[in-house]
Amino acid sequence: MLAWMRRRPAPEADGVSGPREEKTGPEAAADEPLLSVRSVERSFDVGGAKLRVLKGIDLDLYPKQLIMLRGRSGSGKTTLMNLMGGLDTPTKGTIHFRGRPFHEWNDDRRTEVRRRDIGFIFQAYALLPLLSAYENVELSLRMAGVSRSEWKARVTSCLELVGLGKRMHHRPFELSGGEQQRVAIAKAIAHRPSLLLADEPTAELDSQMAAQIMNVFREIVARENVTICMTTHDPTIMEVADHVYEMVDGVFVGSG
Ligand SMILES: Nc1ncnc2c1ncn2[C@@H]1O[C@H](COP(=O)(O)OP(=O)(O)OP(=O)(O)O)[C@@H](O)[C@H]1O
Ligand SMILES: [Mg+2]
Repeated sequence: MLAWMRRRPAPEADGVSGPREEKTGPEAAADEPLLSVRSVERSFDVGGAKLRVLKGIDLDLYPKQLIMLRGRSGSGKTTLMNLMGGLDTPTKGTIHFRGRPFHEWNDDRRTEVRRRDIGFIFQAYALLPLLSAYENVELSLRMAGVSRSEWKARVTSCLELVGLGKRMHHRPFELSGGEQQRVAIAKAIAHRPSLLLADEPTAELDSQMAAQIMNVFREIVARENVTICMTTHDPTIMEVADHVYEMVDGVFVGSG
């Protein structure tokens, strides 16, 4: 049996994170996958030739998991993350997110779901430099259409969750790299996404900072009703994952 099946948490109510936004489309039951990827292939046309990057990927993500993707540079991790987050569509195969067929939907429909229900963290922190930590997080609530009356409490609790309660009014250049990445995490979870995709979130951090970020991730999985899927090259942080998928040349090998 695969590790993710053993570690699959018992269904539970979303009591800690408060009422969720009204979602459009069918909801997945608690023991159904949050995200289901089946026989996914992605090819690109490069100079008239077809470059096969993903060659048949199967993956299920369940609620409240911390999942890692590892693999050499160029193996296809970011390409897969883009598909999982609805930023791109597969050449072949199916992707269902909370029961919604991302592989069939156009960009506008996927964008709507993404804005409300998926958070992204990139290797470089993607904060707006002129806004404070507080304002950066607030912006993501505004973009997701969360009602203004909820902003203050939610921004404050997200920044406290990542350990930046005392740095809320600093702007990015007044924060360390690890602190900036923690603001990016607060920003990505503020609108209560059910899926958080993080592409090499610790790549620019030293090992101590990387370990701190992983503690924050574990805390978020425990406290918020969210599944985190991240890519990494760092073997030392993989032990905190519920499951590690290893990608080699566009397919998964073994199981971690
Ligand atoms: N839009 C694109 N057009 C053509 N080729 C692409 C495109 N996107 C990715 N590729 C190719 O697909 C392969 C996989 O890229 P991808 O970014 O998914 O790798 P990765 O595993 O994330 O690598 P890294 O660890 O360096 O981030 C690479 O060879 C890349 O050149
Ligand atoms: Mg990549």
